[in-house]
Amino acid sequence: GIELGKLLSATGYTTLDPGFVNTASTKSAITYIDGDKGILRYRGYPIEQLAESSTFIEVSYLLIYGELPTADELAAFTTRVQRHTLLHEDLKRFFDGFPRNAHPMPVLSSAVNALSAYYQDSLDPDDPEQVELSTTRLLAKLPTIAAYAYKKSVGQPFLYPDNSLSLVENFLRMTFGFPAEPYSVDPEIAKALDMLLILHADHEQNCSTSTVRMVGSSDANLFTSVSAGINALWGPLHGGANQAVLEMLDEIKANGGDTKEFVRKVKNKEDGVKLMGFGHRVYRNYDPRAALVKQTADSILSKLGGDDELLDIAKALEEAALTDDYFIERKLYPNVDFYTGLIYRAMGFPTRMFTVLFAMGRLPGWIAHWREMHEDPATKIGRPRQIYTGYTERNYVELGNRK
Ligand code: ACO
Repeated sequence: GIELGKLLSATGYTTLDPGFVNTASTKSAITYIDGDKGILRYRGYPIEQLAESSTFIEVSYLLIYGELPTADELAAFTTRVQRHTLLHEDLKRFFDGFPRNAHPMPVLSSAVNALSAYYQDSLDPDDPEQVELSTTRLLAKLPTIAAYAYKKSVGQPFLYPDNSLSLVENFLRMTFGFPAEPYSVDPEIAKALDMLLILHADHEQNCSTSTVRMVGSSDANLFTSVSAGINALWGPLHGGANQAVLEMLDEIKANGGDTKEFVRKVKNKEDGVKLMGFGHRVYRNYDPRAALVKQTADSILSKLGGDDELLDIAKALEEAALTDDYFIERKLYPNVDFYTGLIYRAMGFPTRMFTVLFAMGRLPGWIAHWREMHEDPATKIGRPRQIYTGYTERNYVELGNRK
């Protein structure tokens, strides 16, 4: 693309592009998407191959460092991350201050931001060793924080991490286990969750990643930049959609399961109802992640005995939408969030934890983009322009003279 911005600012013009529909904010070598063809590749590797053969820890390495690790590099990276899973004891008390019915997303973003207060020796964005340390700390501690946010919400005691387990196994144990009881991780659940995290690991300049880059462009530290990304992710138009999809399916089920009636409401834009989990800014064809999730939904739900009726409603909605002119004309297809919630629920996660799982998956992507931005000499502080539409100039009116 041409650097239109520079050209125009030299001539005194400003471009207006609400929602950045056609404006690139950066060059990036991390993730490739072809929205028309439904292609997604991390560092050139097709998402289908990574989902089939890789692991989340390996994909994290790939996104952050640009290459698949050798066996030695992977072992060293895994050990490094495993050694940092503990939270500072004082930071554990932080959770006590939240109401028990708090949504876990603000708990997660607050605790991640608080890492800046507890780990002050890894805040300097210009010191490569400190960046390495904050990277490791974030990858290691986010699953612990996520599990504690869950434990807090159900009023159960926290478990210390067991570093003989993989990242995902450890997270499952800290979430569903109890301190004095043995907990054996179901390998199929661990594998399915690991695969879902891979699918969420990066998606180039989406809302939360752009937020991480924007905050980081002021030289804010990695913890605080990622915390901002977590907040951006929470919105129902972005990562919060996985929770919104399940709430939508529950509501349709409670109203007798009439999917045609729901689709009619969506088409007539009644009360602003949208088909959650459908549509995407970039994909104008099937979201390749959704195709992979749908396959997993079938196998995991038949193993775990999830809610078949909800799965049937989801499939009926998809069928109704894919054959309807409203959706066809607008090129609206299921996105990654359409089927994930059904799997998370079958695994035992409450609806409110779904977006937390998305955040765990997206973390390596946020870190990779923050680091890429810092390493790029062309980076400037993010500072969009505006088209001013207010008053040009008027004189101040004393309080007593105002009507
Ligand atoms: N249900 C019904 N209509 C929709 C939907 C939907 N899910 N998505 C888009 N449309 C319609 C819009 O109303 C608009 O119609 P119009 O031309 O008659 O006004 C048209 O399709 C184009 O949609 P836009 O909103 O302009 O598309 P945009 O790229 O801005 O939005 C978004 C993309 C936010 C994902 C949108 O499709 C949406 O709200 N989907 C539902 C929420 C969702 O699932 N979000 C998750 C996204 S993926 C992720 O973050 C992981």
